[in-house]
Amino acid sequence: DKQGYDHFMLKEINEQPDVARRIMADRFTESDIDLGDIEEILAGDYKKVMITACGTAYHSGLIGRFLIEEFADIPVEVEVASELRYKKNFIDKNTLMIVVSQSGETADTLAALRLAKEKGARVVALTNSIGSSVDRESDASFQLMAGPEISVASTKAYVAMVLVFYLLSLKLGKLNDNISEARLKELIDDLKRLPYRIQETISEFAEISKEIAEAIKEYRSVFFIGRNIDYALALEGALKLKEISYIHAEAHPAGELKHGSLALIEDGVPVFAITTREKVAKKTLSNIEEVMARGGQVNLITAKNIEYDKIEVDNKLVLPEIDNIWSSVLAAIPLQLISYYTALELGRNIDKPRNLAKSVTVE
Ligand code: M6R
Repeated sequence: DKQGYDHFMLKEINEQPDVARRIMADRFTESDIDLGDIEEILAGDYKKVMITACGTAYHSGLIGRFLIEEFADIPVEVEVASELRYKKNFIDKNTLMIVVSQSGETADTLAALRLAKEKGARVVALTNSIGSSVDRESDASFQLMAGPEISVASTKAYVAMVLVFYLLSLKLGKLNDNISEARLKELIDDLKRLPYRIQETISEFAEISKEIAEAIKEYRSVFFIGRNIDYALALEGALKLKEISYIHAEAHPAGELKHGSLALIEDGVPVFAITTREKVAKKTLSNIEEVMARGGQVNLITAKNIEYDKIEVDNKLVLPEIDNIWSSVLAAIPLQLISYYTALELGRNIDKPRNLAKSVTVE
């Protein structure tokens, strides 16, 4: 039941504040996070963390890597599940393996999980599907609690995955004494406000997303750029747009543009630049200028407290105010809305895009 929405995708986008609330319910004390029986596994002495998944779930893992490295100071590798088995992977009993799958039935992801277990790794799953193969075969599961996701394009499960990576990385940071009690307390206070900020972001960006959709729908190719976590977001933005609008979309680390793709930027070509991370925003700004100098149409998604002096982009989407650490959760939302409205403008079959299945059970 679409509950009055035209598409499941839009309904699911709008469910995200509640999903965030559910994930965080009863998880916090004043300065600690309670992750239940997963904690026993997290407390192990690991030399590395390995994350594996496919598609959008893989993109959440790329964000997870930055967070775990930043908060817990453990090296993290992220590998697409369909590639993991065909390379040397250095998985052993000192590896914490995190397997991410909305459906819990993705064939490649499941095969990667089994391989990790064979090699003696402890396996934690992030899944939206209780009783699924990934759920049953892992040592412990973190339920995403997003509720059924019907739209092939994943939205609420992705935001749930990203949020769970925040919780996991903060907990790992605490267990490793890498994050002070005071800082954790601050972050927890912010986290409690996040569902409301997600709500605000959805309402604030609906109109501008429609305008941007109108402006980009005739173009054959769209680019997404960012650095660090913003690059992981760019990848997800490009995937979402291409899967439901069928417009070719590519993401690049912002600094890579001039090593090839800049040749494709000419008058009007849409470029989405994401700058939620203060420490790299200025650098991405110079890449935005390279695009503008060639007539590219720049849509900037940025955090409130990042200031630029002289930039006059075509559209500037400023996310609601929150510690920049959380802006990556919020930045996903305009990317979802822009994809949705572009596909709508183009009359695509939004919830069931051609050639794709919700659950990919073949390798
Ligand atoms: O069920 P899973 O999370 O394992 O699915 C992985 C991918 O197939 C999935 O995220 C896919 O990329 C989505 N259609 C993207 O929106």
